[in-house]
Order: sequence, then C-alpha cells, then structure tokens
Amino acid sequence: MHVLVTAASRYGSTAEIAAAIRGHLVDRGLDASLLDADRVTTLQPYDAVVLGSAVYAGRWTKPARELVERVADQWSDCPVWLFSSGPVGDPPKPDDDTVDVAETMEATGARGHVVLPGRVDRSLLGFGERAIVRALHVPDGDFRDWAAVEDFARTVAESLHAGEPSDADVDADGAIPERPVAPRARPS
Ligand SMILES: Cc1cc2nc3c(=O)[nH]c(=O)nc-3n(C[C@H](O)[C@H](O)[C@H](O)COP(=O)(O)O)c2cc1C
Repeated sequence: MHVLVTAASRYGSTAEIAAAIRGHLVDRGLDASLLDADRVTTLQPYDAVVLGSAVYAGRWTKPARELVERVADQWSDCPVWLFSSGPVGDPPKPDDDTVDVAETMEATGARGHVVLPGRVDRSLLGFGERAIVRALHVPDGDFRDWAAVEDFARTVAESLHAGEPSDADVDADGAIPERPVAPRARPS
C-alpha cells in the first residue's frame, strides 16, 4: 500500500510534521512518499493520502487549497486524512475554531482531521507577519506535539492495515471480499 504524505508549509514546521508522519507510517510497514503540496499533480500512484497545511489567519495555505482543487476528481478514489498545524503557546491557542476545514473535508471525503500545535519563529517572519504576531501577542516557540503526531499516524496506519487483505481474508475461490479501506488497483 503506497501512501502519499503531502503538506503545505510556509516556514518548515508543518513540513517536518509531514516528514514525521511519513516516518511513522513506514515504521508501521507502509510504503509512504513525501511531497510538498505544490508538487503533487496526481493522486493516481497512491492508495491513500495524508494532506496537511499550516494555518494562517484561520485558513489553510494557498498551495494546500490549490492541491485540493487541482485533483478534485481524484479524492474519491482513495482514503484521505487531513491535519492542520497551527495553534501555538502553552496551552496552544487558538484552542477552538482554529481552522474551518468543513469544505475541504467534503471535497476530499476525508475520514478524519486533526489539529496539531505548531511553531512560530519570529526571526523567520517577514515584517507584516511579525507585526501581526506582536499585535496578537502570539508567543514565539516550538509547541509541536510529537506524541500527538505519532498518535495521528498510528490511527491512519491502523485504518489502512485494517483494510488490507490478509491470507485469511481470501475465500476458497481466491477472491478477496470487499473491505472498508480497499487498496486501489494501480494503473497499468
Ligand atoms: C502571521 C501568522 C498568522 C497565524 N495565524 C494562525 C491562525 O490563524 N491560527 C492558528 O492556529 N495558527 C496561526 N499561526 C501559527 C502557524 O500556523 C504555526 O506557526 C504553524 O506551525 C506554521 O507552520 P509553518 O512553519 O509550516 O509555516 C499563525 C502564524 C503567523 C506567523
């Protein structure tokens, strides 16, 4: 089973979360590829997708939103999970309504969405963004929750493995009964 892990990141912290998710999926026996969201042109080679984005001003970033549109007709072909990287601070804020992904959930048919704490490094920000975080008293720091990242990856992996046919699932005629998450046939 080949999983695409893809994310849109402005300052790298969401990309590092995506890389960690990929690593956890590989550790759990899945074949997983990592690509920046703006480099994904097709979902055809993949049996499942994990898509994430950093959150800025309550929205997913443009490359993530554009990817959802770009392959709009392909999401229904495979299981999809979403993650958003945003809240910062201890406790992380905003703690509710971080991002509205209802439309994205619907467009992708995603099975789940998780909000994961993020990182703000003022030294990387441009003038305008620095002014915003100062005005909103957004704290500087790395608040990413690697245990939560692993939990999310585990949920994805367990769901995908639950849908994989095993020897015991093959009936007397060698046919594989329909599964909740059936791997998609690869294009020939
Ligand atoms: C200007 C600015 C606006 C932000 N707006 C939000 C927001 O609306 N909601 C949120 O949860 N996080 C917000 N954040 C926090 C970022 O989403 C968080 O730092 C994220 O981890 C950045 O990911 P990246 O390094 O991949 O770009 C904002 C950060 C900055 C600098």
